[in-house]
This record gives sequence, structure tokens and C-alpha cells, in this order.
Amino acid sequence: MRLPIIAGNWKMNTNIDQAVELVKEMRDRLHGIDGVEKVLCPPFVSLSAVKGIIAATSVRLGAQNMYYEEKGAYTGEVSPNMLAGLCEYVILGHSERRQYFGETDEIVNRKVKAAVGAGLLPILCVGERLEEHEAGKTEEVVTRQVREALVGVDTPDGLVVAYEPVWAIGTGKAATGEQANATIGLIRETLASLYGADFAAGTRIQYGGSVTAANIAEFVSQPEIDGALVGGASLKAPEFVSIVEQTSRVRRR
Ligand code: 13P
Repeated sequence: MRLPIIAGNWKMNTNIDQAVELVKEMRDRLHGIDGVEKVLCPPFVSLSAVKGIIAATSVRLGAQNMYYEEKGAYTGEVSPNMLAGLCEYVILGHSERRQYFGETDEIVNRKVKAAVGAGLLPILCVGERLEEHEAGKTEEVVTRQVREALVGVDTPDGLVVAYEPVWAIGTGKAATGEQANATIGLIRETLASLYGADFAAGTRIQYGGSVTAANIAEFVSQPEIDGALVGGASLKAPEFVSIVEQTSRVRRR
């Protein structure tokens, strides 16, 4: 049994005060929900403050990005070692990183290696763009992104993959549960071909892209989908709590 995982990607939203307020609004209710791993990914500047507020709860912390070098003259960057000890998870290869910051599969691969090396758990994002989707290239693109991200990586225990079709992110046009389930099944097959059936069967793969309290049940009731990476809806405490609660309920059935 894979423990479902719901992660909130706050993206570039909230200053420190707002982050503190938001996490205080949801902390106790999230803590009380069993059967789901709950992860918050605030901006770098708020990691420390949020960490203090969720200490001694079951809520986990993640970063949204990192650089792959250990240290040095890389002005403005944050290294794996800086995050280790501060948070457990790190989102890597998000489509916004690929789109706006030129992250290639090779860069994502370096980041995955560096994260694993520092003891961080990557939430590896993959997903096809609209034109790729329309050209029937979803399988090809997603399979390539998974394979390339994991080149030279020894069995990455604790890896989480997030399937986020780019056309579904922030658009209000989520994939259907069936669509997402099918692609996530292919991702699991790719993981099996790289690391064996047991690894694939034990690895959690999330869906992301316009997930809300109104559609989460459709996703987490699918057999291959182990939770969600939530953007916009993770900035509203009651909605994020509802997403986690529904996941717990659906998965208990
Ligand atoms: P939205 O939930 O806002 O569509 O964002 C999804 C996402 O990119 C999470 O990483």
C-alpha cells in the first residue's frame, strides 16, 4: 500500500507574514488527518518560519527548487546542503522551471542526483505541453522526462513523481481522472523498467494541474494516482484541508 501524498506548491506567493498566517490556519486540521502524507512547499524565504510552526506535527516541509552545486560562487542560488536539515522534500523539474528558467532534462537530472546525494526526497515533475498533448506525444514526452531525470541515479528510495500536464496547470482545465491514471500507469512502467517492479509498485506518483476540492476525489479514487501536487488551491486553507480530508476518506474505502 502506498501512502497517498498531498503537497501544496505555493509557488511565488506569500511573504513571510502571510506564509505564517496561512500555515497557522491549516496546521491543526492537517495534523489531525491520518492516512495521507501532507507536505507544504512555501517559498525559500519562509521555509524556516513555516518549519517552526509545523514542528511536532505530522505536516512535512518541502522546497520548490534548488541548484545542483554544493556551494560556491552561484549568486542567488540555494544548495542541496542548505535545504537538508531544513526540509525533507524538494520539487524538481517543475514545468515553470523548464518554461521560464530554461531547465532541461539534463539540468533536472543533475538536480535529482544532488538532492538524493544530500538526503532530500525529490518530487520530480514531468508533463507534456499542450501541443505535445494534441500531437499524441504524451507517452513519449513523459517517458523521456522520467528516464532522463534519472540517468545515473541509483535506486532513488523515497522518490515521488508528479505528473503535471502543462496544459492543466493554472488553467482550470484539469485532466480527467482516467487520463491521468493512464499516463501515471505508463510512468510506473517506466520506473519498473529502470528499477524493477517492486520499486515501481512502491513509488508514489501524484497528479497535478488545476486540482481543487471539487475534483480531488476523481483523481485519488484512481488506482495509479497516489495524491496530488496542488498549486492555487493550496493557498486557501479550507480548500487545501478539504483536499487532504477527501484523499484520506477515498483511500480508506
Ligand atoms: P495549479 O494547481 O494552480 O494548477 O498548479 C499546479 C502545479 O503546478 C503544482 O505544482
